[in-house]
Amino acid sequence: MKSLRKGIGNSKDVEIFYDKWANSYDQTLYNWNYKAPKQSVNILKKFVKKKPRYLLDLACGTGLFVEEYLKTYPNCICDGSDISKKILSKSEENGKYRSLYKKSFEKKINIINKYNIVSLIGAMTYCENHQSLFNLVSYYLVKKGYFIFTQREDLWKDLNFNNILKSRSDFGLIYKSRPLNYLPKNKDFSSNIKIRIVLLIKK
Ligand SMILES: C[S@@+](CC[C@H](N)C(=O)[O-])C[C@H]1O[C@@H](n2cnc3c(N)ncnc32)[C@H](O)[C@@H]1O
Repeated sequence: MKSLRKGIGNSKDVEIFYDKWANSYDQTLYNWNYKAPKQSVNILKKFVKKKPRYLLDLACGTGLFVEEYLKTYPNCICDGSDISKKILSKSEENGKYRSLYKKSFEKKINIINKYNIVSLIGAMTYCENHQSLFNLVSYYLVKKGYFIFTQREDLWKDLNFNNILKSRSDFGLIYKSRPLNYLPKNKDFSSNIKIRIVLLIKK
């Protein structure tokens, strides 16, 4: 198994890696005590006052984030996208999404409506061009729509992520969490690799 912590390879390698993991992904993440979906929803609950109508869940995986999200926003229409076909078929089985797109989050989706919220939970690690990603998210969002994402603390420092965020005059920072445990019961991550959860608003 290639290393989740140190890197899987290029986007094709990532796709194959998640295709192979699709059947056991949910159980593994449960075993590793993955809490980012629930923690992200708690942040939305705190800061988003108007009930969102449309959510776009980028790198949606099997739908763990949307499963949590719909407990709070049961009437929101959710679309998702992911690079892995097998992961997407798991999401499809769960029946939580209106439309699912097999697409890298660095490529443009032909959307049918703009979104109140765009999410990218547990996947910023795989982003190769942050400015293109932010350009796309900005395009997907309505004015005053929200972008919620996680980013690993070690990569935050390596990439100087503060500067990336500061360079985006089209987004305002609403909230940045303290470093939180990410996969505490995975021995490579344990309490060494943390994430921040960030909420931005499109101006
Ligand atoms: C750790 S999982 C997170 C999935 C889900 N958001 C969750 O919280 O369970 C990372 C996901 O990112 C997807 N992924 C990786 N690189 C991607 C890319 N460039 N575009 C779209 N999805 C990607 C993988 O296929 C995988 O489903």
